[in-house]
Amino acid sequence: MQTRLDKLLSESLAISRQDAKKLLAKSSVTVNGIVVKKGDKKVDTDKDDIRANGKGLISEKFVYIMLNKPEGVVSASTDKNDITVIDLIKDDFPRRNLFPAGRLDKTSTGFVLITDDGQFAHDILSPKNHVPKTYMVTVDSPITDEVIEAFKNGVTLADGKTMKTATIIPQEDKYTAIIILHQGVYHQIKRMLGVFDIGVNSLHRISIGNLRLDDQLKPGEYKKLSSVQLAQITNSKFTKN
Ligand code: URA
Repeated sequence: MQTRLDKLLSESLAISRQDAKKLLAKSSVTVNGIVVKKGDKKVDTDKDDIRANGKGLISEKFVYIMLNKPEGVVSASTDKNDITVIDLIKDDFPRRNLFPAGRLDKTSTGFVLITDDGQFAHDILSPKNHVPKTYMVTVDSPITDEVIEAFKNGVTLADGKTMKTATIIPQEDKYTAIIILHQGVYHQIKRMLGVFDIGVNSLHRISIGNLRLDDQLKPGEYKKLSSVQLAQITNSKFTKN
């Protein structure tokens, strides 16, 4: 987060702006090892190492990032062969221990949430909380009424496991559909449609809970989420449909 240095000092150390200025005047504050005396200096709390009397400032406890995952990138923290979602953003957050909260297949695209808040990730992924995830898919055969009904009742996969109720809304052409899931099973959509011999050509996640992927984000782009936006994910808990 970009902010003025005197504002950050006064907020983090719970001192007045005036006292923050005094601290700066005493050469007590460093940014990336260099003494800074100007209160209006812009700093980035995720990138810069900001210290007062040698002690690092506590800034935001956790970060939450919306990424538009491109095709070919894996939803993992590290990978020997492929570029990961963390590789795409890590230079902007060098001091964070980030991981993706939930996965998209390598070939899938769209909204991946990345954070360093383990409890938050656990909460939104827990099947108990039913946080819905919405996808736009294109397929190689038309979606029939039989598929719509089966999704509602719970599709039984080839391995015998029955999925929770899900929603599929075919678009006019029947080769494009919106799918809403309340659980995250490996290759879930591909396997659910596979039961009906329907192949998936493309799969794009458009929302998590009530928070939609920002359509200004091009593949590979990302942005930090505000607490208001995060609430659009957590407030969607228990809205099972
Ligand atoms: N279902 C899938 O098959 N793949 C995804 O990436 C997400 C849901």
